[in-house]
Amino acid sequence: MRYRLSTILLCLILVAESPHASPLARSKFDPDSWVRAKVDALVGAARAFFDDDDSQPAYNRVLDSIARTIRRRKLTEDEGFANRYRELVEYIQAASLDQLPDHELGFTVPDKQYFRETSRFVQVPDFLMTRSFLRSVGRYETLDRAKAFLRKINSTRAPTDQLIFFSYTSRHLGTPDNDDSYRRLLIVVPGNTGARVPEKWVQFGVTDPGTRVRTRNLSVVSAIPNGDGTFNTYFKDYFRTYRRDGSISIKGRWELGYGDDNCARCHKSGVLPIFPEEDSVSPSELPAVEAVNRRFLTYGSPRFDKYLDESKFGPGLSSAKLEERGKRFGDGFNETVVGRAMSCTTCHRPERLGYLNWPMDQTVISSYINGGHMPLGSDLKESEREELYEKLIEEYFATDDTNPGILKAWLLGMRR
Ligand code: HEC
Ligand code: HEC
Repeated sequence: MRYRLSTILLCLILVAESPHASPLARSKFDPDSWVRAKVDALVGAARAFFDDDDSQPAYNRVLDSIARTIRRRKLTEDEGFANRYRELVEYIQAASLDQLPDHELGFTVPDKQYFRETSRFVQVPDFLMTRSFLRSVGRYETLDRAKAFLRKINSTRAPTDQLIFFSYTSRHLGTPDNDDSYRRLLIVVPGNTGARVPEKWVQFGVTDPGTRVRTRNLSVVSAIPNGDGTFNTYFKDYFRTYRRDGSISIKGRWELGYGDDNCARCHKSGVLPIFPEEDSVSPSELPAVEAVNRRFLTYGSPRFDKYLDESKFGPGLSSAKLEERGKRFGDGFNETVVGRAMSCTTCHRPERLGYLNWPMDQTVISSYINGGHMPLGSDLKESEREELYEKLIEEYFATDDTNPGILKAWLLGMRR
């Protein structure tokens, strides 16, 4: 009974506070308190979504309501507001892109235009589309045949032009057509910077042993150095269609009507290094894993051509000042093992591998830290890794007014 009464009271209060309640309330729109409330709501919803995919709809609603108010009240035309809250306005614009129905990739242009303009960078090389290769790469049981085919191709290629390939099990995610399909064959096809031919990372989902329904997805990420220490990356997912007559065709996932994903959300560094499930790579192929990860490091700093301005997403994990961190986690924390390890931005910043900022993927971030791979070159105990991960996330998403976290402080323009 008490519960019901308080619910009714709450509703009355909410109605009274709604901007539509009376003309008086509407005229009293206070941009500063509106921004403060909305930034807290946004950062809170982002954190909930980071922790749990089920919170994505709620996050989308917050993003949407902020974008709507900015539009309706023409806040970007208000010079004072636009200057004062530049980061917020630009962030909302960039982060809202993938909410538009024809922008599933989250890029500045519609998906259709992106694929049209970039198709030459992400085509699957012809030699990987022969019927016999596609047949053998489809299943784990016949993967050795696929690899024998790749070795044969290599025997006709110059040493600098060799394909680098290996199979592994992903720690991180299934394929777009099958959440439970973790096996992969990755083939790095060398490019030619002089001739503007991109290097292509072609990854086939491989059907698990004994599974009848075949995994359909294959993906391409390509890299073209720009000659100024940066490189552009381009993305495309494809699906294989297995026909009754034994033929196998390859067509874009999006073109086939299966939607698409915001690749850049996880691919912060453009191409991602491969950090496979332990013991999933055969010893003879381990050098190939090392070779592709070394190769990725030679590309430079990731960019997404004109399709995404990653600077709009702000600073990333660990970008806090030392005094802010001391205030948050206590005096002396900066001198602890974990405190010293909170230095991801030494490498994960725009001039190197790109910031690790929201939107980002929890599985990827936690796996690299808790799996013992990051921070690079460190040797932390398991409990220290857990603490490191938790503090990094806390510091990034904190919303307390006296010591706002990285994302909130930046959105409020406090980091200029
Ligand atoms: C939820 C996070 C996530 C999303 C979204 C995502 N990827 Fe990835 N992708 C990964 C991870 C992590 C790897 C590294 C291999 C692994 O651990 O599975 C990877 C690896 C790849 C690779 C192998 C080359 C490389 O970069 O290592 C390709 C190709 C690829 N992804 C394509 C795509 C495309 C195309 C999209 C968008 C349509 C996409 N991915 C979206 C997480 C993601
Ligand atoms: C000394 C440099 C360095 C530091 C410090 C560092 N990293 Fe990395 N990180 C790398 C390199 C190099 C790669 C890619 C190659 C590899 O995996 O070896 C990488 C890859 C990653 C990736 C996967 C690729 C991506 O962009 O998503 C994640 C996630 C990551 N690091 C998280 C972190 C976190 C979190 C920290 C801080 C706790 C951190 N790293 C500190 C150098 C560093």
